[in-house]
Formats: sequence, structure tokens, C-alpha cells
Amino acid sequence: MKKEINNTMETSEGFAPASCGNVAVGYDILGMAFKGVGDQVTLTRRRDEALVITAIESKDSLPKEIDKNICSAVIAHALEELHLSIGFDIAIRKGIALSSGMGGSAASAVAALRALSGFLIEPFTNEELASLALHGETMASGEPHGDNIAPAVYGGITLVRSIDPLKIIPLPIPKGLYAVVVHPQIPIETKGARALLKKEIPLFMHVKQSANIASFIAALYTSDFSLIGDALADLLIEPQRKHLIPGFDTIKKEVLALGALGMSISGSGPSVFALTESQELAEKISQRMISLFSKEGIEADGWVSMVGEE
Ligand code: HSE
Repeated sequence: MKKEINNTMETSEGFAPASCGNVAVGYDILGMAFKGVGDQVTLTRRRDEALVITAIESKDSLPKEIDKNICSAVIAHALEELHLSIGFDIAIRKGIALSSGMGGSAASAVAALRALSGFLIEPFTNEELASLALHGETMASGEPHGDNIAPAVYGGITLVRSIDPLKIIPLPIPKGLYAVVVHPQIPIETKGARALLKKEIPLFMHVKQSANIASFIAALYTSDFSLIGDALADLLIEPQRKHLIPGFDTIKKEVLALGALGMSISGSGPSVFALTESQELAEKISQRMISLFSKEGIEADGWVSMVGEE
């Protein structure tokens, strides 16, 4: 990858949305973007070649060391890959809570690279941007999974066909598909939530899960809401992680009874998500989930968005 700097640029901003990794049935390969919440990075050109984090707006405490903060580390890595020497002041507005399962590390990496892209004479393509952003996921979870990076770059629902080389397939979104995501305020580190997964699965479960993911993707192509509901059952990962989320089984039972197409853990949790056929039902489910978490003594925030809306 060869890029040149536009020396007339003084400042550039990048935004990337939150996302739900796995979308229940596609561990590490399916992802879905959420509108309305995300991370923003502003880069301002410096006269020297240093990277300096000058401002952080975040509910959580974030590191200011260049090699520990995802935004700055991803920019440093990209500049190294591009053989460019250029300095920036970096201002970060972190809208996504840390360790929330809402793709915060991916959003930070993608927002930082979008801001950097503004300084290039020929901006990054989506493929280039996603490949460079994988560095942030490796930092955050020890492994370069692309299921949050892909929707943070492309929006909507995406399939990661391969990691090396990175190949992403944006999937079609049926009109009128809504997503609810609710974040109960308990932290779950992705690294730990990955470490507790079994490394092997029985063949019959592989067969069932393959049928579910294939049916889910077929349902997206045919706008078959009923098939989305049938297919959205995760036999592999959810059973191994749900004990980390207090009240998960009760919440899921109620949410499905209210009419959600499906519900599962967002990424490695603790956030949960549901898909619905209407905004009204999505709002109702969001409220219900928040009040059920509150019964568990946990505060929660909720968002509703039409899937695929830019
Ligand atoms: N696919 C990743 C996991 C997503 O489930 O560990 C992390 O948000």
C-alpha cells in the first residue's frame, strides 16, 4: 500500500459506529452496525513527527500512552506500514463503553483510520481501512477477529470471508429490520470471554450451527423475517457465555415472548441484542430489557436502530 500526504490538510475527523459481533450464529464472522452510538477521532497536524493524545472524552479511563491506546497505536501502525513520517495531536470522543461487547475497540480503530484517511491524497479504500484496523483488535483481544471491524467500516450486516487476506462480504438487509442493543453496566473483557470457549465442538453441533448461519444469510437475501427468527439460534457460543450475564435466560424468554425475531449476546457481552420487525416493538423490548436488568440490580442503557441505515 503506497499513499501520499496532502500537506494542505490541517485537521480531519473520523467516526465509526458501534457494532454487534457474531450476530448470534456467526462467531467471529458475522457483524452488524448500530446507528446512533460510536467513537469519534479528530487529528490535527503537528509541525513535528510526534503522536500526542491531547484530549479524551470518555466515561471510562483510557490510556494516553501511544502504544497502549487503540486510536494512537493503530495510527502509528498504519504510518509505519505506509512508510510515512507525520505528527498528529489526537482528540478522542469515546461514545462506546469499554468492555461492553459493542465493538468499541473496532470503532476506535476505524474512526482513527478514517481521520487519518482525510490526510491522504488518495483515501483508504474500505478494504485497506479494514485490514489496518485489525491491528487494534489484535491489541484488544489477542486475536485479529474482523466481525466488528467489518460492520464498523461497511455498515449494515457483514460476513468476514477470511482474515488473511481480509475478505469482507456486505450482506443485503431486509427493509424494516430493527435492532435493539442493551448494555448492562458490568464489564466483560473480550480476551477472557474468548479464553473460556471450548476449542472443539461435536460434529452434530457443527451441522446444526452451519444450517442456522446458512439459513440466516439466505433469509437476509430473501427478506424472510420468519426464517431470520428460526435461524437466529446460537448453539455454540451463547451457552458457554450466558452465565456471565445475570438474568440472561429470563430476559431472553420474555423478549422472545414479546415477539422479537431472536435475541443473543452482542459480541462477547455483556451487551445483548434483539432483532425485530418494527421500531415500536424494538423500543418496547429495549425498555423491558432495561427494567429486567434493573431487577438484577444492574443499570443498563439501550439503543434502537433500523439495520443498515447509514
Ligand atoms: N467475535 C468476538 C467474540 C467479538 O465473540 O469474542 C468480540 O466483541
